[in-house]
Amino acid sequence: MLQTLQADITQLNVDAIVNAANSSLLGGGGVDGAIHRAAGPELLAECRLLNGCRTGEAKITKGYRLKARHIIHTVGPIWNDGKSGEADKLRACYTNSLRLAADAGLQSIAFPCISTGVYLFPADQAAQIAVESVRAFLQTPSSIQTVIFCCFSAADRARYESLLEA
Ligand code: APR
Repeated sequence: MLQTLQADITQLNVDAIVNAANSSLLGGGGVDGAIHRAAGPELLAECRLLNGCRTGEAKITKGYRLKARHIIHTVGPIWNDGKSGEADKLRACYTNSLRLAADAGLQSIAFPCISTGVYLFPADQAAQIAVESVRAFLQTPSSIQTVIFCCFSAADRARYESLLEA
């Protein structure tokens, strides 16, 4: 089941929350900073062992002080001109995160609006890619029961709401 919420993703009680990380996996600003602050220093210690992450790829860690049991770190594309494969890389973030969650037998996962902050990916296009790629993944049976699009702003939530109603 797909749903959208306006919330701070670090507060969600789900099997995994997805972090919009950078390729170092060593923390940053935005949702990455919020997740590292809420999860605590053990998260950074585990991330140091992961040897970074390529754009479009995803890696899983424990959730530590979060309610969420796991964090799936994915690196979204930095928006360039829309002709540098940004859409495919963003699609891969959702697909690879879901695949990791399914491989771990997880049932619930929450995504932030990956790449639409510091990475400047246009929010409308990103939301369409997010919903399309999650719907495509859920065509194949897996342990995933609930996917939440966790929006920080009301504007983002309205965007997802209208896509999910379509
Ligand atoms: N909960 C949910 N969503 C959040 C939160 C939060 N606590 N904080 C920010 N967001 C939202 C932003 O409003 C935006 O819609 O997450 C979305 C992604 O924005 P960014 O966090 O800027 O991520 P991104 O655009 O993918 O850029 C990633 O920013 O923080 C650095 O280390 C990170 O270098 C990486 C880059």
